[in-house]
Amino acid sequence: MLRGKHIILGVTGGIAAYKTPWLVRDLIREGADVQVVMTRSATQFVTPLTLSTVSKREVLMDLFPPSTEEPTGRWTEHIDLALWAELLLVAPASANTVAKIAHGLADNFLTTLILAARCPLVVSPAMDVDMYRNEVTQANLVALKEAGCHIIEPESGELASGLKGPGRLPELARLIEFLEKILTGSTRDLAGKKILVTAGPTFEPIDPVRFVGNRSSGRMGFALANAASQRGAEVTLVSGPVSLATPRQTTRIDVRTAAEMMAAVDRLFPEQDALIMSAAVADYAPATIAEQKIKRDRSGSSGLSISLKSNPDILKALGSKKTNQVLVGFALETENGLENARKKLSEKNLDAIVLNDPGVEGAGFETATNVVTIIGRSGSPRTLPKMSKFDVANEILNEIAPILKSVR
Ligand code: CTP
Repeated sequence: MLRGKHIILGVTGGIAAYKTPWLVRDLIREGADVQVVMTRSATQFVTPLTLSTVSKREVLMDLFPPSTEEPTGRWTEHIDLALWAELLLVAPASANTVAKIAHGLADNFLTTLILAARCPLVVSPAMDVDMYRNEVTQANLVALKEAGCHIIEPESGELASGLKGPGRLPELARLIEFLEKILTGSTRDLAGKKILVTAGPTFEPIDPVRFVGNRSSGRMGFALANAASQRGAEVTLVSGPVSLATPRQTTRIDVRTAAEMMAAVDRLFPEQDALIMSAAVADYAPATIAEQKIKRDRSGSSGLSISLKSNPDILKALGSKKTNQVLVGFALETENGLENARKKLSEKNLDAIVLNDPGVEGAGFETATNVVTIIGRSGSPRTLPKMSKFDVANEILNEIAPILKSVR
């Protein structure tokens, strides 16, 4: 299944690096064309000569020639290779390299290549159990998932240190099966579907420097865009003001106000198969926007009142227009959650609604996790345990995937 596929194997400094000659051999047996890239630390565990012999290609390690007297080679080699690759696997991925990828560092050939690559990136962390469980490593792995990388969970068992727990490189057959799934598209169950996702807050201006807004971070919507695009959908992300990186392979349109979001969604909606409104749209906006910065009233009078006007309800407007699109809304409720969410589901003509309560531990705007209940049109509510927003995103997509299959 890997016949003719261009695969880059990035090997980093961990004891499991000693298994990589067999991994290269198995990938080549499956028909793949494998280019190995090593970090300097990896060479402590397996030699470049071994990996170049089994891969039949020179192993790449350094960005720069060892001295100015050496031939310069080609400076753009990392870019050429990034474009050549159809899949980039980092195995084993050390805690150090995971951290570098999560933060966009490019201090060696491998991390530079990863930044430049357009193809799917698969990371197989393997390290000692405590390094793996370390909160910083876990946060880095969540960041990688949120940035659109595929993570292969390590296996549990006895580790080189003698400790037991997760951290082992999975069986090679499992690694190869994972790559095949990505390359052959069997995890791409949303291929051919166009999905529009909204994310973040909206900011409604009061004057040139102030606004009415809310605390939405946009993480849930970005996780949805990321998960949908990993599953093969053509994703457009309409985002309010957030400070998040655009997930790989999604088209992003930035807006500020509810009116701008309405205009963008309304324009894009007719050609979509689904709309997932995870944005926390401000329900009200100042009735007038002051042209100049409002000055403080120093007379000691009673303060300032701002009169607000209603914003359009984007979801409701599109719910009344929809032809065969799948519509998903969110409901943030602090009381009578199920009842209120069901009411919104029917009033806005939705196919599913995702209910959350910001008061629950691990749920809400600023967390990396969420606790939600998904309510479909006919089914009973499905309450999920606390999980990462990326995993919640996949659960939401699981809810609509069967409906999407029957659309068009
Ligand atoms: N929504 C929208 N346009 C708005 C407000 C909300 O499209 N002007 C969408 C949100 O993206 C979300 C859902 O509608 O998917 C939330 O429903 P809504 O009834 O607006 O919830 P709340 O704003 O929380 O309403 P309330 O405060 O009355 O509970």
